Amino acid sequence: MKKDYILPSLDSARKRARAASRKVVFTLDDKYRGLGEGKTYHIVTHGCQANQRDSETMAGLLEDMGYRYTGEQKQADVILINTCAVRQGAEEKVLGEIGAMKRLKKNNPDLIIGIGGCMAQEEETVKTIMEKYRQVDIIFGTHNITSLPKLLYEVCQTRERKVEVFSGMGEIIESVPATRFMSHKAWVNIMYGCDKFCTYCIVPYTRGKERSRDRGDILFEIEELVRQGYKEVCLLGQNVNAYGKDVSAEYGFAQLLEDVAKTGIPRIRFMTSHPWDFNEDMIRAIRNNPNIMPYIHLPLQSGNTGILKKMNRRYTRETYLELYDRLKEELPGYAFTTDIIVGFPNESDEAFADTLSAVDHCQFDNAFTFIYSPRAGTPAATFEDPIPREVKEQRLQLLNEKVAFYANKNNRRFKDQTVEVLVDGLSKRNSDVWSGYTPENKLVNFTGKNVKTGDLVKVRITEVMSFSLNGELIEE
Ligand code: 5AD
Ligand code: SF4
Repeated sequence: MKKDYILPSLDSARKRARAASRKVVFTLDDKYRGLGEGKTYHIVTHGCQANQRDSETMAGLLEDMGYRYTGEQKQADVILINTCAVRQGAEEKVLGEIGAMKRLKKNNPDLIIGIGGCMAQEEETVKTIMEKYRQVDIIFGTHNITSLPKLLYEVCQTRERKVEVFSGMGEIIESVPATRFMSHKAWVNIMYGCDKFCTYCIVPYTRGKERSRDRGDILFEIEELVRQGYKEVCLLGQNVNAYGKDVSAEYGFAQLLEDVAKTGIPRIRFMTSHPWDFNEDMIRAIRNNPNIMPYIHLPLQSGNTGILKKMNRRYTRETYLELYDRLKEELPGYAFTTDIIVGFPNESDEAFADTLSAVDHCQFDNAFTFIYSPRAGTPAATFEDPIPREVKEQRLQLLNEKVAFYANKNNRRFKDQTVEVLVDGLSKRNSDVWSGYTPENKLVNFTGKNVKTGDLVKVRITEVMSFSLNGELIEE
């Protein structure tokens, strides 16, 4: 087969240009408008909030081309899968899904299947898809989302597969349409990419170098959301504390938080903070603005200094705990969550015990826990790892029991209290019950009448579980 595409390259993704990122203003070429008239699309989204937000961009582009959304894959003329590469399990799931789509394509040969997201940035994965998954028509990288209209147009014209995946790009594209999936909460990118290069992580390769959006563009977007009646924004970045560092020495994340708070949006969240340079100005901004929610996600990854060093996390057990204690003291009543990896190559029993004791120290409100998954192209994938899988699974179970214990302990303070809930909608499990989140990001399921999605309501907590609270609406 003639190779008329360029494979993504982890090697070029590794290289970081010093030059400032280039800003590009997007406009949709008229030739692509109307291409989707009378046709429908469906998007399957895997992975993190950055992917959720990217799917909203894909939806916005398709809708500007005339496509309409369908919840039914069987009816769709275009199906996009926005993929995650952070762990092997996520990748296997996607490959299974693409496999199953062969059948859809058989029933509807005109169906166009596109694969985007982080897997599309991996050399080996793209090769596999090209060789083994003939049903895929388009492969587009995380830097190539705005090429979707062009790629769809070309596939419609030629019926040939199209691949567009650039590596290590440093562009920021503004004015791209987006169809937001919720009308009360919005994801807002403040920066893209990651320069931290933790040794286990594929993200710096798949999402490119750290680059901050102009504050003017971010604030304009949030002011517009306020006008539209949005109640919450979540500021997104792999590492939000680094906001602005690629642009200016004076205006960083703390200053941005202050300005976002001034827009008057009722709730502000941010994801994810790296313990590296979480500074006093940030703490002050968080404390002084009541619309910044009392919730901080601060990934620990491991409680052992030796492992943290091998992970290239840039902090020790002691400096993490010191920061954590300071935050707890300066931000009383706040909820704290974390990410933890067990079974990093050669993690000894003692090193794992350090992670458990760090969890005892921090008593997190919740933790997202993972077994280490080797990612081709990252340094840790070459580390020797004699620890058997069963041991890693036992460690994960022990850790999860501890996490659940502290989650439950932390939640007990809400019993019989009145909390404010931003209503997401009817509960997924029970259609007589509403659900939403407290400022501390606690999931609340509650009963009550005359409620609707997007309302900010008062709920009395009647029952406390480890990972959610039950309550009753307080009618005012
Ligand atoms: N294996 C397991 N977990 C990982 N994470 C990132 N890379 C890996 C990996 N290779 C976890 C980290 C990160 C979260 C988003 O995913 O804990 O904070
Ligand atoms: Fe991955 Fe580390 Fe960057 Fe987070 S900070 S995205 S874990 S490299």
